[in-house]
Amino acid sequence: MRFLVVGGGAREHAIAATLVRAGAEIIVASANANPGLERLARASRRLDPTEPTGVVALARAESVDVAVIGPEAPLAAGVADALRAAEVPTVGPSQAAARIESSKLYCRELLARAGIDAQPAWSAPASIEEVESAVARFPGPFVVKPSGLTAGKGVWVQGSDFTDPKEGAIYAKSILVQGGRVLLEEKLDGEEFSQMAFVTDSGVYPMPTVQDFKRAREGDQGGNTGGMGSYSQRDHLLPFLSSADRDRALEVLARTREALAQDGNPFRGILYGGFMLTARGPVLLEFNARFGDPEGINALTLYEEGDFAELLLGVADGRVDPNLLSFRLRATVLKYLVPPGYGDRPQPGGLLFLDVEAIEATGVHVFFGSVDAAGPGTVKLGSSRGVALVGEASAIHEAGARVESALRFVKGDYYVRHDIGTKEDLARRWEHLRRLRAPGAKPSPIPLSVAPPEAAPSSAAPPDRLLG
Ligand code: AMP
Ligand code: GLY
Repeated sequence: MRFLVVGGGAREHAIAATLVRAGAEIIVASANANPGLERLARASRRLDPTEPTGVVALARAESVDVAVIGPEAPLAAGVADALRAAEVPTVGPSQAAARIESSKLYCRELLARAGIDAQPAWSAPASIEEVESAVARFPGPFVVKPSGLTAGKGVWVQGSDFTDPKEGAIYAKSILVQGGRVLLEEKLDGEEFSQMAFVTDSGVYPMPTVQDFKRAREGDQGGNTGGMGSYSQRDHLLPFLSSADRDRALEVLARTREALAQDGNPFRGILYGGFMLTARGPVLLEFNARFGDPEGINALTLYEEGDFAELLLGVADGRVDPNLLSFRLRATVLKYLVPPGYGDRPQPGGLLFLDVEAIEATGVHVFFGSVDAAGPGTVKLGSSRGVALVGEASAIHEAGARVESALRFVKGDYYVRHDIGTKEDLARRWEHLRRLRAPGAKPSPIPLSVAPPEAAPSSAAPPDRLLG
């Protein structure tokens, strides 16, 4: 089968690598020449992936059987619609269904209309005059979000990105002045997790749950980024996440699939729920209409036993064979190597020297993102996330240690979060939720209409599976 992969980042490198393992041929449509994709592709074309005409022309010229759209921007620009109109089966929702990601306001309104009660308190002031009164209605800290796409970087959280509510109000007004819509949300306390699933007419088919590290620097300091790294646990849950929590999140995905279909926007692609696990259960922060970057790479690394090409064809056609959904029972840790200053003021152009063979010989996978080839074993860092290294093992901290050990084969000026996947960081997150869920813990300032809290973990020590 011949696949068109739209997009040129590490996520698309991982999609292509998983397809190649299933015997598929790859054609790439991307703005950049990703060295990883270049190596795998039968043909590769430089084009604007958000411009439907060029993408469709390439799909036709190369007679592709299926198209897979990696990033959000082409989905928001209607590239999936154009491919389907040209009778190319496509993994990726229509422009209208992709509004679940490209318009946070549409997402909140859709869930409210459908009675899906896993939302924070939120408000969408329509004019500058309404901002002050909307801010005043939040009894506690709040979050300001542009409704449109911001590559994970436009969200301001009180306590991290601003202190005084007045600053939040000014930011909200500035978004309105620029002609956008803005959302104000209650600031939730908890641990985030990403639940992705293949979603099509026949249902919702889950992937392993992943935790992403959004903040640029260690200890969750610094600005919000697209994600500095991520991990997944051997049993496909997370140290702080029970199967009941995960099932609750999957129910939100299933009900959202139905709500989209009822709204006349059926979804064929990858639906990604970004949740906060709070004292009262999982609450939806946002939906994405695609594989997470990096979270999708963790899941794809674990996909081996089924036939990924058949699986994606099924998603595109609207019928998935559940037997094709097979993820290995291993923990994964992914760390992104990024240019110095990434998250605030990135300094692109630095050279990285990687001995890819030596890294892969240690069992660590290498996926290229925002880099240009610059000679044998050398890449030049762009201004975004450069190279993803993924380790696997039976325990999360061992997978993290494998990535750390592979760093000896990388030279150059880069930044990486060493704390991702360490025992200390995992224990801190587990303890955070234990405290939040303990009987007598201070409740959220606003009553959330979400599922009742699970019983608090009874022991004061992290469970064994935290380390397994
Ligand atoms: P989003 O693009 O909506 O996922 O927001 C980006 C990041 O901002 C999330 O991953 C969270 O870390 C943070 N965030 C968003 N909404 C909230 C919220 N209501 N409460 C606390 N943190 C939030
Ligand atoms: N890692 C967050 C995202 O893919 O949007």
